[in-house]
Amino acid sequence: MSLTMSDALVFFGATGDLAYKRIFPALQAMVRRGHLNVPVIGVAKAGWNLEQFRERARDSVEKHGGLDPKAFAALSKLLRYVDGDYNDLPTFKTLRKELGDAKHPAHYLAIPPKMFPVVVEQLHKSGCADGARVIIEKPFGRDLESAQSLNRTLLQTFDETSIFRIDHYLGKEAVQNLQFFRFANSFLEPIWNRRYVDHVQITMAEDFGVQGRGAFYEEAGAIRDVVQNHLLQVVMNLAMEPPAALDGECFRDEKVKVLKSIPALAPSDVVRGQFRGYRQEKGVAPDSKVETFVALKLAIHSWRWEGVPFYIRAGKSLPVTCTEVIVQLRRPPMLYTESPLVPNHYRFRISPNVLIALQTMVKRPGEGLVGEPAELLVIHHPSPEEMDAYERLLGAAMRGDPGGFAREDAVENAWRIVEPVLGNVTPVYEYEPGTWGPAEVERFIAPPDGWKNCGE
Ligand code: BG6
Repeated sequence: MSLTMSDALVFFGATGDLAYKRIFPALQAMVRRGHLNVPVIGVAKAGWNLEQFRERARDSVEKHGGLDPKAFAALSKLLRYVDGDYNDLPTFKTLRKELGDAKHPAHYLAIPPKMFPVVVEQLHKSGCADGARVIIEKPFGRDLESAQSLNRTLLQTFDETSIFRIDHYLGKEAVQNLQFFRFANSFLEPIWNRRYVDHVQITMAEDFGVQGRGAFYEEAGAIRDVVQNHLLQVVMNLAMEPPAALDGECFRDEKVKVLKSIPALAPSDVVRGQFRGYRQEKGVAPDSKVETFVALKLAIHSWRWEGVPFYIRAGKSLPVTCTEVIVQLRRPPMLYTESPLVPNHYRFRISPNVLIALQTMVKRPGEGLVGEPAELLVIHHPSPEEMDAYERLLGAAMRGDPGGFAREDAVENAWRIVEPVLGNVTPVYEYEPGTWGPAEVERFIAPPDGWKNCGE
């Protein structure tokens, strides 16, 4: 594995939405921390010049996170811009010239997936791929076959150690903390298994709809959009064995083993929902059956997890925006109390802030042995200075550090797991916006144990 620092960052899709909302703010933060001091070349077909590109960058940081005048001025000096069609070789020849002396550029593809093969081929033909790394934005394919084909295309030009598949959840402080908390605390290991854990719940709730991305959502749906990638990454972090060494590949080896132990989903493992009003969104078919909500049940056939269900729930237009993991322990025997005991659980909040808590039972003051739940808050980090996922991941890719990226085998295994339930193989139930999805989800974990909703 080469650990040469990239000497230029090229980003395709530089005038797009992702660049505007997340990439420019991440670049400004990298400059502020002294982590970026190489040319940053935007490529797009917008008919812009460098000044317009800089204006876009300024507007982006002002709207998303705030302008840091000193850092922005420095970033602005690093910016370059190449305007042109991705289908035209001259665009890439101009890029090669713009790269100047750079020998190890990192090419970041924040573009529609159907353009990935075109850009990769042009990078190859123009010489821009020599000594380079490639960073690929999600979605990485739309099923197992397309992901395999995309992997083949990439591997014709780049070797696996030069390919960085972004899943921004892997760059989140809280997702990294999840793994760290597990392996840095000896009190957890004895109970982190089928003897003590009853089940695991992962909820990714968003209180907004598809925000004008109707056409994209019609092609994706919740399973492709967030389960195949972000939420299976969370499952891997929760369920993996400790790595053999502190090395990115060792982490990825352990993570992929988790996926290999998960059988492909069956239709009976899945409940899909669609919020009322979705079909009236721009770009959405009036009879669309695409899910904006999904709940599903995974099994992990391993020595540690056999028989422990992992439930995942993700949806748009739910009551809150919050991603949380609940690791529920088995119910204690009811020997010494007069009231029912609530099982203990660990609660890991991944978004919008980092929170780790342990729910316990304590005696209610007064006569008798009556219990009540009390949550011990282990950690709560609402820090605005926290490193954003994109900042962390772009920095890691430019350093050539693979640990925070999805490896070829993991991506393909994740598609294998969800493949049988993609499309319309299960019914889609309507739910009211602002609720926790269709009532059918209770068939997985019914009250009183039930789904744990963030904020309740
Ligand atoms: C993206 C999905 O990958 O992740 C979006 O396409 C989703 O639909 C987003 O809203 C959530 O990310 P975050 O970082 O805002 O929790």
